[in-house]
Amino acid sequence: MRILIIGGGGREHALAWALARSPRQPELFVAPGNAGTAALGRNVPLAADDVGALQQFATRENIDLTVVGPEQPLVLGLVDRFEAAGLAVVGPTAAAARLEGSKAFAKAFMQRHGIPTAAHRTFTAGEYDAAVAYLEAQGAPIVVKASGLAAGKGALVCPTPEAARNALDLVLKEGTFGEAGHEVVIEAFMEGEEASVFALTDGDDFVLLPSAQDHKRIGEGDTGPNTGGMGAYAPAPIVTDALLDRVRRTVIAPSLAGLAAEGAPYRGILYVGLMMTPEGPKVVEFNCRLGDPEAQVVLPLIETDLVELLEAVALRRLGEVEMALHGGAAACVVMASEGYPGSYRKGFVIDGLAAAEQVTEPGATPPGRW
Ligand code: GLY
Repeated sequence: MRILIIGGGGREHALAWALARSPRQPELFVAPGNAGTAALGRNVPLAADDVGALQQFATRENIDLTVVGPEQPLVLGLVDRFEAAGLAVVGPTAAAARLEGSKAFAKAFMQRHGIPTAAHRTFTAGEYDAAVAYLEAQGAPIVVKASGLAAGKGALVCPTPEAARNALDLVLKEGTFGEAGHEVVIEAFMEGEEASVFALTDGDDFVLLPSAQDHKRIGEGDTGPNTGGMGAYAPAPIVTDALLDRVRRTVIAPSLAGLAAEGAPYRGILYVGLMMTPEGPKVVEFNCRLGDPEAQVVLPLIETDLVELLEAVALRRLGEVEMALHGGAAACVVMASEGYPGSYRKGFVIDGLAAAEQVTEPGATPPGRW
């Protein structure tokens, strides 16, 4: 079996690692991949957002299954294009990926379907004055978000009215987020602990993967600017079975049913970022993929062959597969070049990977679990 993984980060390395463990011994291709994935399969020098070239590659190379790591190709319609070419692929169509690609869409969708989330209003650049008036009426703290894809940097938590006005200007007036800032979502600040829940769905059935929590700030003790995540662990202790059941009933099931009813059935991984507020779990954001670094801790906890699970998603027969999880927990720490998440130097050689493999491979885990 030939599997193409799209993306080039730690998440895609984790996907390759988990797929490579399959008893079906798939041949792996990763586009563009990284030094880690090169040890598990063949890296293909195609950018993750070059949807046309990726589809031509998949067709030419008789790829049996494609798994998409990052959000951008999904929002650009990679799945639509692959499916039109008769290729099996795991991920939502562009219409369903709007849940991540447009925060304005996601918030309006949640409102339409009664899914718990913070109160909000959406404004375009032409509605700047109305946005200012809304901010003044709401006060602070408040959250200002660029509606489009902004690599995890588009949500600005504003502790004061001045900070909120500056954030609004950054998004709507100064074009800091480019196209992503053509619309702004202003939403009530939610207080509580965050956790992430992941549903794997074929459009009809879904299973929940282990929950996770990531740590976004760069500095020791949760200080400094936000990043894509400096580390994660799974499962999240705060996500009890009762809470997971509530999220299943109040968020996941109505979201999937709502998308199907709106003609955009969701297939793939739905990542729900949740805030545990005093009124119960509320959606902070939807993502249309696995998280990075959450994938690195969620995937090792899945006992069922990942090839079997993902193939069942692509072929719409997830209901026929029983998913089993390992006991125990997983943790991941991200190392980044100095300066991240601002400007930083790239191209350093990473030494010691072989030695690290010895530590992180099954020998480091309780015997019998893997
Ligand atoms: N770690 C956050 C994300 O992948 O969106």
